[in-house]
Amino acid sequence: MAILADLIEERTGLHYGVHDRDTLVEKISDRAVEAGFESLLDYYYFLRYDPEAATELDRVIDALVVGETYLFREFEPLRLAVTRFVEPLVRSGVRPRIWCAACATGEEPVTLAMLLAEAGVLERVQIVASDISERALSRARVGKFGRRSLRSIPSSELRARFVAEDRDGAPTVAPELLSAIEWRRINLNDPHQVASVGPCHLILCRNVLIYFSDDTTAKVVSHLSSALEPEGVLLVGVSESLLRFSTELECQEADRVFYYRKAT
Ligand SMILES: C[S@@+](CC[C@H](N)C(=O)[O-])C[C@H]1O[C@@H](n2cnc3c(N)ncnc32)[C@H](O)[C@@H]1O
Repeated sequence: MAILADLIEERTGLHYGVHDRDTLVEKISDRAVEAGFESLLDYYYFLRYDPEAATELDRVIDALVVGETYLFREFEPLRLAVTRFVEPLVRSGVRPRIWCAACATGEEPVTLAMLLAEAGVLERVQIVASDISERALSRARVGKFGRRSLRSIPSSELRARFVAEDRDGAPTVAPELLSAIEWRRINLNDPHQVASVGPCHLILCRNVLIYFSDDTTAKVVSHLSSALEPEGVLLVGVSESLLRFSTELECQEADRVFYYRKAT
């Protein structure tokens, strides 16, 4: 159903090519039935034109997004970000502003907060973490992770310092990490929302661009670049090279990690 795919892409950037349309229809049909619609066309009209559609569209987004993430995922770029970009800024008296721009259920900003706490600079940085999915964010805010999220923590010391178990035995993140993070709902496909975050020294936008078309990726990267301070750095996922796009960022490499830096 092309018109539904177009609507979803227009609102969220999520791209469903011709071969992915069956999956899209399957997921949306379930949602349409739950919401009491008898046909997908009625549901489409509702989502596009009804003034009350915003809440239902949020449910559709929650049903479509892929929230796969875990602590210490693609760890090397995070380590580099802390030692090479954040610590020097702190030493020079700047309070770095870091934005995790598609944080899903929060494992990525929490990992970053752990590394910053280990480096003794957590209180001297500002971390904003955002996602389009309110459901993912509501889980992120409470800092409870499934056991799968803990599978890559590199040492038992880190785990002992930052992860406790609640009364039900669920792994829970240390409150000092959670309270260092400002959680916000930001749709990367909306330039006004991106601009509302304000200037950042470091932006992590990892493992989300793969769900966008090239056109959308180019636009999102351009808006993220505008949100970077001069010499600010953008990190994307390890499988998300930006080299085929012309951007105002320069691709640089250190310790086998590629990153994108804004010129002064
Ligand atoms: C696979 S997760 C990546 C999580 C984390 N960055 C990581 O690398 O582990 C992708 C996330 O992108 C979010 N997302 C998808 N489209 C988005 C959009 N237009 N704006 C903001 N977040 C979006 C999804 O809700 C999902 O939580």
